[in-house]
Amino acid sequence: MGYEIQKILTAILLVVLVFFGIGFISDQIFKTEENIVAYKVEAPEGSVVKTVADTSVDISAILALGDVDHGKNVFKKCSACHSIKEGGKNNIGPKLWSVMFRPVASISDYKYSKALSDYKKDWTWEEMNGFLLKPSSWIKGNKMGFAGLKKDKDRASVMLYLNENSAQPKELP
Ligand code: HEC
Repeated sequence: MGYEIQKILTAILLVVLVFFGIGFISDQIFKTEENIVAYKVEAPEGSVVKTVADTSVDISAILALGDVDHGKNVFKKCSACHSIKEGGKNNIGPKLWSVMFRPVASISDYKYSKALSDYKKDWTWEEMNGFLLKPSSWIKGNKMGFAGLKKDKDRASVMLYLNENSAQPKELP
């Protein structure tokens, strides 16, 4: 009987140790990351790996690979579901005129998934880059049926093209 209790106590102690151990290690990772990059990307709790990956994206370097004409070409993949022109209509996906830097899921006459409506961020370069790389894992549960653009150059070019098709194109960072 005493032996059983000892086993249980040992197990609990182990769990506690492992728990704090992980906390300590991820603290260290966050500390070093924060020293390297000037901004901090918010991530849902528990996604240590994702946060480290996000903050290490050098968005200026990625954007430097892009060019608008190539982006126009890449956008053909998107135009099956999206319009880009000013005054364009919603299609399978929402209209994308002026999408850069507007709040996520902000077209009032388009019916977004709950995942996108609840996301509550803006389409910054970093958010768009992460989303277009792999839409299904960047915003879990969204309904954009598109695998993503694996090549940095393709994402950069299409982001420049989106930025160009905007009421107020932004300077590149
Ligand atoms: C098969 C159709 C389809 C394709 C192809 C597609 N999308 Fe989408 N897209 C959608 C749908 C549907 C949504 C709405 C998702 C939701 O509500 O969860 C969406 C949402 C978006 C949004 C969010 C818009 C907002 O108002 O917040 C962006 C940005 C976007 N798509 C960009 C692109 C780009 C760029 C491409 C091409 C590289 C692309 N999409 C290809 C269907 C598509």
